[in-house]
Amino acid sequence: MADSKIRNEIHVFINGVEHRIGGEKAFLPLAQYLRNHSLPGTKVVCAEGDCGACTVLASKLQQNPEKEIQWSSFQTINSCIAPMYLFDLGSLVTVEGLETQEELNEVQEKMRAFHGGQCGYCTPGMVCALSALAENSQCAGKSISEKKARNHLTGNLCRCTGYEPILQAATNLDLSKWKSLK
Ligand code: FES
Ligand code: FES
Repeated sequence: MADSKIRNEIHVFINGVEHRIGGEKAFLPLAQYLRNHSLPGTKVVCAEGDCGACTVLASKLQQNPEKEIQWSSFQTINSCIAPMYLFDLGSLVTVEGLETQEELNEVQEKMRAFHGGQCGYCTPGMVCALSALAENSQCAGKSISEKKARNHLTGNLCRCTGYEPILQAATNLDLSKWKSLK
């Protein structure tokens, strides 16, 4: 996928599927592009980057110190304010990409077990944010403290009374059960 030729389209992997995007579509907000392409799990609530409901995971190709090309760790992105062109040569995971055919993943399972969703508006964004935390913590061999979970979820608002159960879900994640997204 990576080459030095001039292109008139961007190349983005979304949930493992390559999208070649040109013209005006490259300037759409990511959330709008996703929802226009049969991925409505990403919600838009504030549409101005404040609430985190539209959170997705993003990784980019980068060169490591040994000059090898590899994927960066995942960052969480407010997709309502991020134009598509930012993700050229990137890999995105939406809430749909976290599903498996057979079972809930560890984040989804703990959100269910601790009743982390009420009205559900914030839930896809919370699940994506916690999935990035799980993925990056597992890769780094680190556990998830309550302080770390609180800091990580600073950009994700819940309008119901869900913070305590969400934090319980986060701090009870069993990272040995987390299946890496890469
Ligand atoms: S919809 Fe609120 S941050 Fe994107
Ligand atoms: S569960 Fe309603 S906004 Fe969070």
